[in-house]
Amino acid sequence: MNFHVMTLFPEMIDQALQTSILGRAIKNGCIRVNAVNIRDYTKDKHKKVDDYPYGGGAGMLMQAQPVYDCFQAVRAGVAARQGEAAADGMRVICLTPQGRTFSQEMAMELAEEEELVFLCGHYEGIDERVLEEIVTDYISIGDYVLTGGELPSLVIMDAVARLVPGVLHNEASACFETFHNDLLEYPQYSRPEEWQGKRVPEVLLSGDHRKVEAWRLEQSQERTRKLRPDLFEKYRKKQSLIRDLLKRNRALYIDMAESLRRGRGEVFYEGEEGVIVADRQAGVCMLAAFSDQAAGGLVSLVPAEPEFRQFVLHQECLLAPLEEHCLIESNIPCRHAVYHHRIAPALSKKVEIRRLDPSFLGQIVNFYHTTSAEYIRERLVKGRLFGAFAEGSLAGFGGEHQEGSLGMLYVYEGYRRQGIGLALVSYLIGLHMSEGLVPYGHVAIGNSASQSLNRKLGLKISKETLYWVRGSRRQEF
Ligand code: ADE
Repeated sequence: MNFHVMTLFPEMIDQALQTSILGRAIKNGCIRVNAVNIRDYTKDKHKKVDDYPYGGGAGMLMQAQPVYDCFQAVRAGVAARQGEAAADGMRVICLTPQGRTFSQEMAMELAEEEELVFLCGHYEGIDERVLEEIVTDYISIGDYVLTGGELPSLVIMDAVARLVPGVLHNEASACFETFHNDLLEYPQYSRPEEWQGKRVPEVLLSGDHRKVEAWRLEQSQERTRKLRPDLFEKYRKKQSLIRDLLKRNRALYIDMAESLRRGRGEVFYEGEEGVIVADRQAGVCMLAAFSDQAAGGLVSLVPAEPEFRQFVLHQECLLAPLEEHCLIESNIPCRHAVYHHRIAPALSKKVEIRRLDPSFLGQIVNFYHTTSAEYIRERLVKGRLFGAFAEGSLAGFGGEHQEGSLGMLYVYEGYRRQGIGLALVSYLIGLHMSEGLVPYGHVAIGNSASQSLNRKLGLKISKETLYWVRGSRRQEF
């Protein structure tokens, strides 16, 4: 991921990013930071970048020209490396106390970008005309006024960078927080067991992983309830919806429940008639109508943003109303396969499984045609595709889809019927379990090979059919 910071104080950015985790991430190439001095772009012979505001008032304003030219230089660099389309699509963030307050959700959203540009204001502000021209987002880090945008840009870079694969060596740390979304962290203890008469809670010394997890969750809940009742209320409502969905039909609604539990999906609608969960990052909207009559009304509530291009319908009755609003490109009827055992399947000793990096793109796109090459590349960059190797050669692959289901399974000809698929799925199930997730996937109706593989591993197949629909909105929607 590349950060570009337009600032009058580039040394403030460079110095702050020399040490610690971000310093290491820069050294090993996980992130790149390009701090650009706006002053280098002024046409003023005294290197001035500010002037008095028209109409009077206190203080000085940053002028449009140097900011604009600085941006054009950043843009040209990105266009040369990544192409014009990437440069046109860049998010340009202006740091200002007037912006949207920064949050973990925003950090997760920004972590999806390849390039992020920050504009750090100084003085009393920036000429509005250049803001209109280049800025896509206005972000504040809180309701207080700082002397400039450098510290806020560092705060945002820190929060975003730690979500970039490879930045945190202990990958579980980033996942963990998503798993416990809406809750504050539980208390933690290190050696010695006793300090100033205070003992580490006994349960943490018990070695019983399950008990430790239960204690931590309880502590997190208690802390959140006391310190952040607003967050706790949100958490409580979400948990109650998850419970309701799972009680109604565990295998059918596992995708919605997991999406909420993992902190990906947001509840877009919840009512007597049904539920809509929207996963913005994946562009997937999941719909459950609790009666046939409710179907039409529920579909009309689907968020109107064009990025939602995939819909998971949990009932057939939702198809006709969705067709009214969308041009349907494809519709794959499938069933959920859910792993509900406490112990992960045994791993094959014969097959080596490794995380694949983007250099494997070519070997995958030529064989796996269900998604676009861009989608596969993104999965590889995120480190969510895994390869099975037999005697050093790639024999098959499988991974995690954007919205969180397991899938993308493929075994190359010549390696079939040797347990490669089984080894991959076993590995993926174990991986999700170690991340505290309930593993699930989709089995297309009629794919008997997939169905028997899932059954063999003890996954439960839903009785009901779901419809994975790709489509685009009709104009009037
Ligand atoms: N610039 C000055 N104060 C700020 C704040 N609170 N957030 C973002 N940018 C700022």
